[in-house]
Amino acid sequence: MTTQTYAETLRLEINTALDAVSQFSADCPDRLREAIRYMLLAPGKRFRPILVLAAYDLCCRSSDNQDNHHQIPLRAACAVEMIHSYSLIHDDLPAMDNDDLRRGIPTCHRKFDEATAILAGDALQTSAFQEITGITPPELAVQCCRELACAAGVYGLVGGQMGDIIHEKKIDHAAPAIEILEKIHLRKTGSLIRTSLNLGGIIAIASAEQLSALSNFGYYFGLAFQITDDLLDVLGNEQTAGKRLRKDDAMDKWSYPRFLGVDGAKQAAAEAVANAGKALDIFEQDSKPLKLLREMIEQLPNRKK
Ligand code: IPE
Ligand code: IPE
Ligand code: MG
Ligand code: MG
Ligand code: MG
Repeated sequence: MTTQTYAETLRLEINTALDAVSQFSADCPDRLREAIRYMLLAPGKRFRPILVLAAYDLCCRSSDNQDNHHQIPLRAACAVEMIHSYSLIHDDLPAMDNDDLRRGIPTCHRKFDEATAILAGDALQTSAFQEITGITPPELAVQCCRELACAAGVYGLVGGQMGDIIHEKKIDHAAPAIEILEKIHLRKTGSLIRTSLNLGGIIAIASAEQLSALSNFGYYFGLAFQITDDLLDVLGNEQTAGKRLRKDDAMDKWSYPRFLGVDGAKQAAAEAVANAGKALDIFEQDSKPLKLLREMIEQLPNRKK
């Protein structure tokens, strides 16, 4: 099986599971279900849930390849994608980045309305935690729940989004600015990516050494991911990216290209990619999941979406 086929298999499993977890019973208002599924099932890259499953496969000791092999980690994979999708819906709201295009389709509040988009995001967040509590045994569910809550909350995604917004327009090229920006990126984007890798390792009952390697990899992957997203905003094509670009400067956002220029930002991304690669060196060389993780990080600087 090539790395590409392996990634496609994971993506298919993830999409099937996301469809199943977002059916909800008849008690869920139809409009809410529709808005949730509209963005959750839209064609995202599924990077975070793939990271969960690849980290799990990398650390899983049993060579168990039964059909339900991913039953437990898929719960965590769905949960991180649900948190991610909620964060995109809210990030696009007029009060935040005010965007009208996401994943190649109108943003949730444009398709429905602002109130529905806010509620769809809220519901995705709570459903993510509901999903992750289904992990067994219960002690593992508690550990995963805590991991996800920390990444999604004030020290992670939400804290990072607050940082992103309060620094808008406060442009100051003084020395510490890039350090502050690095922290914002690590929080708003890096924390959920790092947690995706941690969750895969935790569920696979990985060794302390493996967990620490995954966490380091996730740290640099998350940083590289947001730096390359900043670069995409400057260099990318809207049609391919499926979202509006050239907006960061227009909104006076703090970004790597803004502080370091395009070449400086590319250099910073390359450093993060190299550090991420090094973090994986403790793993054996020829496994499928290891090859996929290496490919995902190495391809980041060339991303078109
Ligand atoms: C976009 O995330 C938001 C950022 C954190 C930069 P992705 O680039 O993973 O978006 P999708 O999930 O593929 O749509
Ligand atoms: C979004 O960062 C980070 C989160 C959604 C948490 P951006 O605002 O740069 O993401 P895009 O460019 O809109 O996808
Ligand atoms: Mg934003
Ligand atoms: Mg945005
Ligand atoms: Mg962006």
